[in-house]
Amino acid sequence: MAISCIGQTLHICTPLLESVPMSRRTGFKVFLKCDNLQPTGSFKIRGIGNICQKVMKKGGNHVITSSVGNSGISLAYAAKQLGMTATIVIPEVTSESVADNMRELNANVIRHGKVCDNAIAYATQFAKENEGIIYFHPFDNPGIWEGYATVIKEVKDQVQQKPDVVLTCVGGGGLLCGVIEGLQSVGWTDVPVIAMETRGADSYNQAVHAGKLVTLPDITSLAKCLGALTVCQKSLDWGKLHPIHSVVVEDKHAIQACLSFLDDHRMLVELSCGAALAGIYEDIIPKLQKNGKLKDNIESAVVIVCGGAAMTLQALLDCKTSVGIE
Ligand SMILES: Cc1ncc(COP(=O)(O)O)c(C=O)c1O
Repeated sequence: MAISCIGQTLHICTPLLESVPMSRRTGFKVFLKCDNLQPTGSFKIRGIGNICQKVMKKGGNHVITSSVGNSGISLAYAAKQLGMTATIVIPEVTSESVADNMRELNANVIRHGKVCDNAIAYATQFAKENEGIIYFHPFDNPGIWEGYATVIKEVKDQVQQKPDVVLTCVGGGGLLCGVIEGLQSVGWTDVPVIAMETRGADSYNQAVHAGKLVTLPDITSLAKCLGALTVCQKSLDWGKLHPIHSVVVEDKHAIQACLSFLDDHRMLVELSCGAALAGIYEDIIPKLQKNGKLKDNIESAVVIVCGGAAMTLQALLDCKTSVGIE
């Protein structure tokens, strides 16, 4: 029996918490937008819930996308809530336990290709060959950005004053586009965004430097969720209209940020989220201030805690060992 969620959102309004340890460290207020607390463990449900509801309104009932993990979990969840069918194409890097999480939510799971980009190509073809199955792109998609923009619309209602900077991570650039769309829509057009990536998944940073899209030969970062070989054009285009600072950290910084966050806030997140948190733990804001890229008087920052359901304590400890953190 389908539960009709048309007209309601499938995501929740997540808390915005001040991080006392991070505020103490930086000397300004650091707010955490806790999208790790979404029912699916990540912000992805905001965009994918929006897409599924649009498809359903038009009479569609079977959707397909590709995902390393969190888009798939959110699609499986949204489809189950709406009484739709979900098919998810996952690449080799996706663990079997994450695939099982999708199957437990009744999704059909197909494994294809080495990285997300190969799975995207397969999912597109699959939809062409199977009538009635509607494909949507997991990050290069206005409906996805529209859903993600709600994260900033909520922040607008939760803060007493406009933040001086927003930190987020970049995979394919969907979240970045949504965050900027949100900032523009609430009138915070001058609030800079720090777009964090890990080396080896830095397709946005390379594109910014080249002034055009760059396709990485491979994803060598451990942050597999940031592993889009090419970011979406829109994420690059926003750089002409909105202040964005692209920053790359090493995997060990994202891992250390996840460990510090676990100690500080007792929450476990994926390395993609660790990349955003490293913006605070690796003192990126003072470094950008020193280079004249950010103003001197920062009073508050918002970190998009994007979450991620694929992290376990053991996996984080394995990452720690693999990069030689004591
Ligand atoms: C937990 C998490 N954070 C960040 C990202 C990156 O999002 P985007 O591809 O929209 O840039 C992803 C993408 O899969 C993710 O799962």
